[in-house]
Amino acid sequence: MGRVLAVANQKGGVAKTTTTHSLGAGLAELGERVLLVDLDPQACLTYSMGIDSDSLDRSLHDVLAGRAEAADVLVKSGDLTALPSTIDLAGAEVHLMTRTGGSTCWPGPWARWSTSTTPCSSTARPRSGC
Ligand SMILES: Nc1ncnc2c1ncn2[C@@H]1O[C@H](COP(=O)(O)OP(=O)(O)OP(=O)(O)O)[C@@H](O)[C@H]1O
Ligand SMILES: [Mg+2]
Repeated sequence: MGRVLAVANQKGGVAKTTTTHSLGAGLAELGERVLLVDLDPQACLTYSMGIDSDSLDRSLHDVLAGRAEAADVLVKSGDLTALPSTIDLAGAEVHLMTRTGGSTCWPGPWARWSTSTTPCSSTARPRSGC
């Protein structure tokens, strides 16, 4: 069974992304299978994993919009796997706000994948509220 770890803080620039990446890398070194979920449209976690967000065809945004399966969006980076972000994610928040239960639907798309993965980490902008 997977674990989900969320790194969140209302304040900007307090090392959410750095902590997520370091934590993920440390756990991977201990032999854990790690999925890093980048919930920030700035895609800093995605870039920090060596993935060029601008060159991606699909991202977490497409998963949240119901256009792609999480498994089809994953990008491998060394020992880590990313569910990457792109700037498109900035629009997902508006999209989800207009849907009933939209603020709580984000774990759904990748929850199935996470059951076979230990652990999952995520990073979020303060506005995302998680
Ligand atoms: N332990 C540390 N010592 C010194 N600098 C650090 C440390 N951890 C992070 N930083 C630096 O602090 C800055 C902010 O870190 P980071 O981007 O991880 O914060 P954040 O909370 O994700 O920011 P944002 O709210 O913009 O997403 C970065 O320049 C990072 O390199
Ligand atoms: Mg950040």
